[in-house]
Amino acid sequence: MLDRREFLAASAFAGGVWVLGQPGECRAEPVPSASQKWPRNYFLQGNFAPVSEEVTETELKVIGQVPKELHGVFVRNGPNPQFPPLRHYHWFEGDGMLHAVLLRDGKASYRNRWIRTEGWKEERQAGKALYPSFLDPLDGTNPPRFKNTANTSVLWHHGRLLALWEGGPPTEVRLPDLETVGLYTFGGKLKHPFTAHPKVDPVTGEVLCFGYNLVAKPYLQYSVIAPWGQIISTTAIDLPRPVMMHDFAVTANYTVFLDLPEVFSLERALRGQPVLKFEPDAGARIGILPRKADGTTIRWFTIPPCYVFHTLNAWEEGDEVVVVACRTKQFPQSVEFAPPSDGSAHPNPQDSEAVLYQWRCHLKTGKVVEGPLDDRGTEFPRVNERLLGRRTRFGYCGRSGSEMFDGLVKYDLVKQTHLVHGHGAGRFGGEGVFVPRPDAKAEDDGWLMTYVFDRNTGKSELVVVDCRDFAAPPVARILLPVRVPYGFHGIWVDLS
Ligand SMILES: [Fe+2]
Repeated sequence: MLDRREFLAASAFAGGVWVLGQPGECRAEPVPSASQKWPRNYFLQGNFAPVSEEVTETELKVIGQVPKELHGVFVRNGPNPQFPPLRHYHWFEGDGMLHAVLLRDGKASYRNRWIRTEGWKEERQAGKALYPSFLDPLDGTNPPRFKNTANTSVLWHHGRLLALWEGGPPTEVRLPDLETVGLYTFGGKLKHPFTAHPKVDPVTGEVLCFGYNLVAKPYLQYSVIAPWGQIISTTAIDLPRPVMMHDFAVTANYTVFLDLPEVFSLERALRGQPVLKFEPDAGARIGILPRKADGTTIRWFTIPPCYVFHTLNAWEEGDEVVVVACRTKQFPQSVEFAPPSDGSAHPNPQDSEAVLYQWRCHLKTGKVVEGPLDDRGTEFPRVNERLLGRRTRFGYCGRSGSEMFDGLVKYDLVKQTHLVHGHGAGRFGGEGVFVPRPDAKAEDDGWLMTYVFDRNTGKSELVVVDCRDFAAPPVARILLPVRVPYGFHGIWVDLS
């Protein structure tokens, strides 16, 4: 076993090749939580349950063939609570853990690491959970402290990897070893929380991002980050009430905001009711702002109430801005911010199913034409991000299954057809991240990657699906040394 200094030196750059560790190395940190009592809670059971080990493993077994032209790291974020909760627990609030698979020359290696946020370190020091859940009742005396878990997604920009959580600033993490550097505030220029869904413009290299504040005005701020990584502008956008805004969209010229009525109310929480609640009477709007304009010039388009966690893409067609997203008629009950009455959570996936949906906002007439593009339940939409903000023909989603996604769907938005890649009986996957083939000429020339959990074996794998032969078995099933709990969003960092 190498000591820590030798290990970091070896893993950072070995003979000109990034690797995720040394052959045979498997580091497992002592995790005091392993022997503690965990409460009954849907999001702490099955493959939602956290893992207690940090592992590095080279030379993973592969069923099939890892495409030899791929050289990069697939990194996915997700909640992995370090300690049993004080009282309640929601899936959205577990400590962030990154799971990374590095591919090169047809070979694969793996590493998982907790993101060592300030809250994670405090709790590790104490040997127990210290932070409350946002499901816990407020006592009206002390304002609650919430932990920036950095657990939701990752951004790779200007050679920097950032783990994101929409309630606060990003946390910088080093590649390839996944060591936490610390909070990243863009040199102190970041003045608002940072969405977990920033958009990197594939043409300009800019990052567009926003942050919402549930307590103090401005309730929404929007920033543009230059290709060289500096925040070049921030503007406030006036909202009548604080709402949970998880995602947005961009086109080549516009930024699109979703003001949807998942409304925050401290007064409601002090009455013992949920702090966030779907209030359809508050109305819903799509806001369209020229990319670098002042927030006061935003134009709002009224739409029927709904909720959207994730957009697929947006683009311009003539005088219209087209937005495609996974839409639910109300806030999904499966992730509702209310403590279950019996101390556990029993989400009903049928109540929560989002469907792929389109809004066409006419910039001259102010009219909106909207409607579903499919009737099956899908979520975690992604596109080939080389075309983000431009008209995309293909979209990729997870297909809603009994406990997570039981397959992937490839939508052809031009032909209005779709293909399904099923994960197989008892197998459930996450978001499919599109990885373009180097030198690809066609939009769908690439692969979707997702972690799949096999309930039959209790094991996880990274599945690589050829998007041009979508219904076929995966070209590679990369078998992982530890279970990968269900999580949120991932990216492919190209190192070629
Ligand atoms: Fe998300």
